[in-house]
Amino acid sequence: MLALMDSFQATIDADGRIEPRDAMPEGYRKTLIRQIAQHAHSEIIGMQPEGNWISRTPSLRRKAILMAKVQDEAGHGLYLYAAAETLGVDRAELLDLLHAGKQKYSSIFNYPTLTWADIGAIGWLVDGAAIVNQVPLCRCSYGPYARAMVRVCKEESFHQRQGFEILHTLCNGTEAQKAMAQDALDRWWWPSLMMFGPPDASSTHSEQSMAWGIKRHSNDELRQRFVDMTVPQADVLGIRVPDDGLRYDEETGHYSFTQPDFTELYEVVKGNGPCNEQRLAHRVKAHEDGAWVREAAAAYAGKQAQKKASAA
Ligand SMILES: [Fe+2]
Ligand SMILES: [Fe+2]
Repeated sequence: MLALMDSFQATIDADGRIEPRDAMPEGYRKTLIRQIAQHAHSEIIGMQPEGNWISRTPSLRRKAILMAKVQDEAGHGLYLYAAAETLGVDRAELLDLLHAGKQKYSSIFNYPTLTWADIGAIGWLVDGAAIVNQVPLCRCSYGPYARAMVRVCKEESFHQRQGFEILHTLCNGTEAQKAMAQDALDRWWWPSLMMFGPPDASSTHSEQSMAWGIKRHSNDELRQRFVDMTVPQADVLGIRVPDDGLRYDEETGHYSFTQPDFTELYEVVKGNGPCNEQRLAHRVKAHEDGAWVREAAAAYAGKQAQKKASAA
């Protein structure tokens, strides 16, 4: 066993990839299951705040784009559940844990989408933050997760652009449309900053995950990268990031900015966000309503297996 663990460490040290059949420490396996499951859950719960606007888009073109985007998120969930299954868990188990509130999803999806501009803000800011978080995961030490991320990131960059384009249209429209875009930025800015997790000083899992090559950059580094990327885009839109402390620092080449209120993050994570109950209840209902599909698929697979066996 010791030799096997030596080979694990040697692979990590050489920046190689760990594959499903390789030996790995139990902690590494568990950390990945937790992280990939949480990521998969976020993709499918994330369909709800936007799915709720599909019937209310301002045009047919917007409807087609939004439907494609929401379907992409379902696909991301599927890649990720499949990646988690390579670690020896069943996706049904993971869904049960989500439904029982024992596994989390990103706290950002517990905020409501009040206006059409929110759909733009989600694409621009939420998918934008997701890209900043996920691009380094393409180099994650666990092969199946890293490979799933390559495909996910390509699609996320389309999502980010479609959100920006929605806001760009609004910002070049009437005063009322521009005000709607500003209001969306005001509400989504702080929760987006929270998507990078707690500050480094109080982040519990970060250090070990970095040593294992699962995580490549700290929460604060990624948050900074997001701010640096997003503020100039807000300038292009002509709307204002709601932070009086925001300054460009010529010397460092970075923006200094006000940290979000992390007590709000902890409250939302605990289940006290504006939409936690609604999101979970909707997910559980969708799962229950889909029971007949799973039963029919299992019955069909059983029949096919029987046919194969009798033919042999
Ligand atoms: Fe996604
Ligand atoms: Fe996305």
